[in-house]
Amino acid sequence: MADIIFPHQHILGIEGMGPDAISTILDLSESYVDLNRQRDKKRSDLRGRTVINVFFESSTRTRTSFELAGKRLGADVINIAVEASAINKGETLLDTAMTLNAMHPDVLVVRHPYSGAVQLISEKVECAVVNAGDGWHEHPTQALLDALTIRRRVGKLAGLNVAICGDVAHSRVARSNILLLHTMGAFVRIVAPPTLVPADAAKLGVDVYHDMAEGLKDADIVMMLRIQTERMRGSLFPSQREYFRYFGLDAEKLKAAKPDALIMHPGPMNRGIEIDSDVADDINRSVIPEQVEMGVAVRMACLDLLTRNVIANFDDDSSKGGAA
Ligand code: NCD
Repeated sequence: MADIIFPHQHILGIEGMGPDAISTILDLSESYVDLNRQRDKKRSDLRGRTVINVFFESSTRTRTSFELAGKRLGADVINIAVEASAINKGETLLDTAMTLNAMHPDVLVVRHPYSGAVQLISEKVECAVVNAGDGWHEHPTQALLDALTIRRRVGKLAGLNVAICGDVAHSRVARSNILLLHTMGAFVRIVAPPTLVPADAAKLGVDVYHDMAEGLKDADIVMMLRIQTERMRGSLFPSQREYFRYFGLDAEKLKAAKPDALIMHPGPMNRGIEIDSDVADDINRSVIPEQVEMGVAVRMACLDLLTRNVIANFDDDSSKGGAA
């Protein structure tokens, strides 16, 4: 695997990433899926390397899977809990970044509530930076793990009809997925109440539906999103019960999709609000646990590629990587 060329110094977003770079990550992830299913999961490829996870927002699966990914590759992994750090003493974001940079990490994995904050950090530090979710902007490793899950189940991404449903307006997961799926030749529609459609839906090139029966018609993939009340100012839908009635995925609404359509959700799920337990736990259709499994493999591939120090010209439009 030593001859893989990855043209990005950072992974800040799917924007700016071409199909070859995406396929490189997904192909390498496959070998890590196999490794993660073995009893002995430890490698030494990243021995002597330091990965720092800095999460300015809460997280269960993303932070844990980055930590596992680094440790399984043999890196030293440090987690900074923002509540217990000097960030609460008034330090600016850039001072925090400069402080961490002075400790010579090889990779910083950053989650931040503000769109663009992770890119800003990447401009100030010498190491590779991975965006683990910035505000409403991007969450590239989530889109990559979703793509790996779909590709392994269906065998391809190109030509698939993917319906992304729910709170698209506040979702970095949706944004990164739309960019990735379009880059790989899939068709994306969003299904949401008018108040939860992103303002730039037309620019994103997606078809917009406000009715689940119409929006799920012939879908190969039904991707549900969490209602992100923490990002809403005021109430954007009348009540949770009404939301579930019109936009919550249940067995009845799922009938509009293809008979073998896969059900996805990035987690954490609000059962009974955006998704019914019957479909979330349907072992034949739901790939939600598999998404979590793929997350570790994808993050191992990202850490691996970013620490190889191979920067070459690819088919992408930038050699700096991620969001332009
Ligand atoms: C998502 C996130 O944080 O953007 N979660 C995740 O990383 N799996 C989605 C969400 O919080 O709803």
